[in-house]
Amino acid sequence: MTKYVFPEGFWWGSAASATQTEGTKLFKDETIWDKWFEEEPNRFFDGVGPYQTSDFYHKFEEDIKLMKETGHNSFRLSISWARLMDQDTNEVNDEAVQFYNRVINGLKENHIEPFVNLYHFDMPFKKQQQGGFESLEVVDRYVDYAMTCFELFGDRVKYWFTFNEPIVPVEGGYLYDFHYPNIIDAKRGFQVAFNTVLANAQVIKAYKENGYDGKIGIILNLSPSYPRSENEADVKAAEIADLFFNRSFLDPVTKGQYPQDLVDILKKHELVPTYTEEHLNTINQYTVDLLGVNYYQPRRVKARDTVPNPNSPFFPEYYFDNYEMPGRKMNPYRGWEIYPKGIYDIMINLKENYHNIESFISENGMGVENEARFIEDGQINDTYRIDFVKSHLIWLNKAIEEGANCTGYHMWTFMDNWSWMNAYKNRYGFVSVDIDTMKRTIKQSRKWFKEVSASNSLND
Ligand code: NOJ
Repeated sequence: MTKYVFPEGFWWGSAASATQTEGTKLFKDETIWDKWFEEEPNRFFDGVGPYQTSDFYHKFEEDIKLMKETGHNSFRLSISWARLMDQDTNEVNDEAVQFYNRVINGLKENHIEPFVNLYHFDMPFKKQQQGGFESLEVVDRYVDYAMTCFELFGDRVKYWFTFNEPIVPVEGGYLYDFHYPNIIDAKRGFQVAFNTVLANAQVIKAYKENGYDGKIGIILNLSPSYPRSENEADVKAAEIADLFFNRSFLDPVTKGQYPQDLVDILKKHELVPTYTEEHLNTINQYTVDLLGVNYYQPRRVKARDTVPNPNSPFFPEYYFDNYEMPGRKMNPYRGWEIYPKGIYDIMINLKENYHNIESFISENGMGVENEARFIEDGQINDTYRIDFVKSHLIWLNKAIEEGANCTGYHMWTFMDNWSWMNAYKNRYGFVSVDIDTMKRTIKQSRKWFKEVSASNSLND
């Protein structure tokens, strides 16, 4: 038996987001999710929409107590822009302020450090009508919103994040049709991506100039991009996938610069977004203090020689595919690959190529369809989740031993929650929730995670 010990002060916890947990229409403007669900409920698994979530709005005290009992010393939540501010007048909504104050204070009273994210896929609908992040006007309003959050909560919140997985709304909303506004237009998608990077830098600038004493970062979903063979075309395709899906955000937010190879491809295909020199200077000067890394599975890349969608101008030259490689270990209950070494590869890459920036695993976890089938004696016996987390933590520990500057591990997620178009299809939590009665029941993995966090170590 080997014992793996983590550095002193390591963050143990989990992450969630406003839209996926709060679950009430009270005191809130509509987001794009509310609107989309009204328009096309059938696109959501089992027709379940964003108001049938785990009701954190009313049950947060009970949930914080459970977090404490799970050994959490930190928890990530997001603030809902559409709840905090009236989207016509920009006025702050007092009920929302009280709610977030009570959550933040409740966490702190229980010695759980609040990690607060400002934007988790939840564009207020009225801002989307003005163009969402395609519009610089909306970028300015987002900076106002961020400043409002810092003023209201910055005395207690010391870990802030500008965005969660900012590439996902670009892919879903402007390339592949799984997020509102369901546009397929690469040029507009790259403009949204650029403006999001700019918004990140402008918010960091505002935070620093106002002298707040915490840290500010961003959360990126990083998927190592492995070629499926040594063939030159596959190796090239894997590099291109890495450029688009990882480095298009990772490089500018940590180094203040876009990779030249990416710029060259965009130029060649006339996809360069509109920007000014001042924008580039801001991006260059204001990079993140720390990086959250969401890791689920790698990309297995194979070059394609036919255009997958002739109407899409996306990747016109370097087609690539997520290749179904024989011999990959798959999650039998959801279908994603399980590759724990990916977490190590990410951390070593950050160490070697990104000035060993402070980072933490901000999401990792295992989705399971129809998880109720694993109930034994009234409790979900999720040994598969324990195995999953353990194997990832062992590789993470190895990276830390080799000098990676990783300061924490957060699971996705604390309690089963509503996951966008998938609604409640895949369950990820330490705690299960009955979406009709809202009853919470702890799972086996939660007991195990408590032992790990309490001892700051694990045994294999
Ligand atoms: C990443 C996202 O941040 C989160 O919102 C989502 O539910 C999980 N992945 C699981 O797919």
